[in-house]
Formats: sequence, C-alpha cells, structure tokens
Amino acid sequence: MNFDRKTFLRTLGIGAAGLLATRGRGAVETDPEEQTSAPVWTPEDPEGYWGQVRAQFPMTPRRTYFNTGGLGPAPRRVLDMLTLASRQLQERVETGHDFFEQARVIVAAYFGARPDEICFARNATEGNCVVATGLELQAADEVIFESHAHPGGSFPWLNRQRTDGIVVKTFEPDPVRAEGNVERIAALITPRTRVIQVSHITSPTGIIMPLPAIAKLAHQHRAWFHVDGAQSAGMIPLNLPALGCDSFATSGHKWMGGPHETGVFWIRLEKMGEIVPRQVGAHSSEDVNLKRPGEFLYAAGAHRFEYGTRNAASVLALAEAVRFQNELGRERIAARGHALADHVRAGIEKIDGIEILTPADPAMRGSILTFHSPRIGQKKLFEQLLVDHRLRCRPVNEVGLDAIRVSTHLFNTVAECDRLIGAVGEILKKA
Ligand SMILES: Cc1ncc(COP(=O)(O)O)c(C=O)c1O
Repeated sequence: MNFDRKTFLRTLGIGAAGLLATRGRGAVETDPEEQTSAPVWTPEDPEGYWGQVRAQFPMTPRRTYFNTGGLGPAPRRVLDMLTLASRQLQERVETGHDFFEQARVIVAAYFGARPDEICFARNATEGNCVVATGLELQAADEVIFESHAHPGGSFPWLNRQRTDGIVVKTFEPDPVRAEGNVERIAALITPRTRVIQVSHITSPTGIIMPLPAIAKLAHQHRAWFHVDGAQSAGMIPLNLPALGCDSFATSGHKWMGGPHETGVFWIRLEKMGEIVPRQVGAHSSEDVNLKRPGEFLYAAGAHRFEYGTRNAASVLALAEAVRFQNELGRERIAARGHALADHVRAGIEKIDGIEILTPADPAMRGSILTFHSPRIGQKKLFEQLLVDHRLRCRPVNEVGLDAIRVSTHLFNTVAECDRLIGAVGEILKKA
C-alpha cells in the first residue's frame, strides 16, 4: 500500500492540530505540515542533498557517529511521532493497540511481505528467540551458524543446547568467496541437521552472506533456515520472501532509524505452524472468549508471537522511520552508505600498518568497514578516536579479532569520513 504522508497520518487518526482534540480512542494529533519531510534528490549537488538529510537528525555536533551497526539515530520526525503519540495516548489513557495493524501494513510493504507475516518484536534478539525456543527439536539435533554470530543470534541456541541437549556447530565465515560460506555450511551438515542460521550481514566485519544459495542448501536437507538481519534491514533494500529464508529477525533501532526497543520478526506464512509460540497472552489470539473452554487458538498471523500491553507509540514511530526511508529511496541510501564505506576504506588502507578485515569483493560488503592494526590494540585505538578526536566507532573484540568497526549511514558525510581517516593516520604514526 502506498500512503502519502497526509493519508498516512489520517489513517492513523492523526489530523491537523486540534482536529481530533478529544475524540477517538487512540487518535494522535499533530499538524502534518509541521513534520519535516524528506528532501528532494538533487543529482547536480549530492553533498547538498545529503547535508539536508543530515539536518533531519538531531544528533549532538560534539561527536561524530560511526556506530549505526550498534544503535542507529532516529530522524527528527520519527522522534516527533514517538513523543506525540506517547503523549496523546497518555492523555487519553489508551494503549493505541489498534495502530499496530496499520503500522504492520506499512512495515510489511517495506519488506515485500504480507502483513500477517510480520510480528512487532522489541529487538532482533527477541525474533531470534522465537525461532530458537519455538522449533520442536530433540536432544542431539544439530544447528549450524557462523562463529561470528552476535550473542543476540548465538545465545538463544547455546541456551537451547544447555536446556535441551541440541548440538551447536559453527563455521568461520569466508570473507573472500561468497560460495565459500555455502561450502563451509555444507561441510557441517549431517542427517541430524535441523536448523541453519546466518547473519545476513555479519556484525564484526560486515560480510554479506549469499542467502538464496544457503536457503537452497538448507531446504535440500529439510533444515529450517533462519536469518538474523539486524545488520541488513535499513542498510540495503530487502524483499524477504525472495531471500529464500523461512524466518528473519531484525532490530528497528539500528539501520532502519526506528526508536529504541523496536524490532521486526518475519515468518513465511506457510511455515507459521512449525514454530510453537512460547510466550503468549492477549493479542496472541483472536479467540479471547475461548470458543472452547480451556483451549485457545493462535492468531492466524505472526501477531500470535505478540502478547500483552505494548508501546504503540514506538511501533508507530518505526512505521514513520520506514516511510522516511521510502521517501529518500532505499537504493539511494544503500549506495550512499556503501560509497562512504568505500571512501573510508580507500583512505585507511593507504595507512601503514592497517589491515582491512571486511571483504574486498564489493558484492560481499555494504556500509560496514572493519580494520585492524597489529601496531595498536582495538581498545586503545577506540579510546583515542573517541577521546582525542570525538569519533564514535565500535571496538571489535569478538573471536579475537581486535579491530575497529566503522558504520557509514545516510546521515554521515564525506567530511566526517575524511576526519576519521586523518585521525587513524595520526594515531598510527605515534603508535
Ligand atoms: C547480527 C546481530 N544480531 C543481533 C543483534 C542484537 O540486536 P538487538 O539488540 O536489537 O537484539 C545485533 C546487534 O548488534 C547484531 O549485530
């Protein structure tokens, strides 16, 4: 569904100020004209355009932010939606739960999915947990994922290993050949393999996994294929059904630019019945009056995994973040982040004593660049960048990598990247 901004606000019960002052159970009032809208693309002046985009982010000028892979900033209009909706729902003392269905339509379209395949989670980890706790597995059944998996992707399975005796197997991701990752997974498959999971884009070094090929392999072996997309949603455009996976979890508060504690869990409709919801309550079922006493039916869609009172304002604000990206153009955002990461790469790889860990193949990387120097530990380099140069990157100490990760997103500028390159050069000269 393609809403324009006013239609969207009206659809959500949001009209010009005062219009809905006292009526409506969950209506949120704001003047759509007051909202900041996305700038118009100016091919003759790309830096001017991106400067306007940057102006939409109320970030402190006191430091430069290169850690969207950890937590992304939300643009002003997302924060406006969050505060307005929170305030008005508080004033009316309404949950605003009805808004979930409208937000679901918008978020589903963003992912090329059906609304009933979308569950609003609180973060990526929660979606990963739905799969790791909900698949019916026996002791000695095997799960494969990459050794670089974030704890939000690995701990749910390691916990299941502890509680139910399943067996976790890991492979080291191949940063050189995409097919190398398919081969490394294939080498671990046995008749007991039940699940294959990968990060779409790995957190420590930003390797893009070849999802359709892994999906094919998983399904040849009748394994469930789950993707942890915390680093891909919002960085690159996605059509989830086309990726071939059975389920996909992501954060809303990283590359998507949504508010803190938002996430999306997607599950292919025809696979819904294979995951047992382990946390249920009101909203997990339409059958609240229990047609058959003592039993209830799960809701037909993925909202069966939602339960209890939630923060509708943050879900509305996530839908607003999606609209913001749609207006800017998702291919354009992806290309910008990638180009900035390339710019940092080109500058940093010239510095003596730097080793780049992110793949060289442009098809295997996006808007993340991770580098390492044997001359200085990541802790020291991270601190010097932050304290002496006010550049916020992310130290990478997973699996002994001892590196620095730089995330470049739509609000970053070429000038900021140049400052980062200069700062790394200066620090290494003294190291
Ligand atoms: C691949 C991956 N999975 C999961 C997470 C955890 O995300 P969340 O805090 O939204 O659960 C992260 C966070 O960096 C991540 O990179």
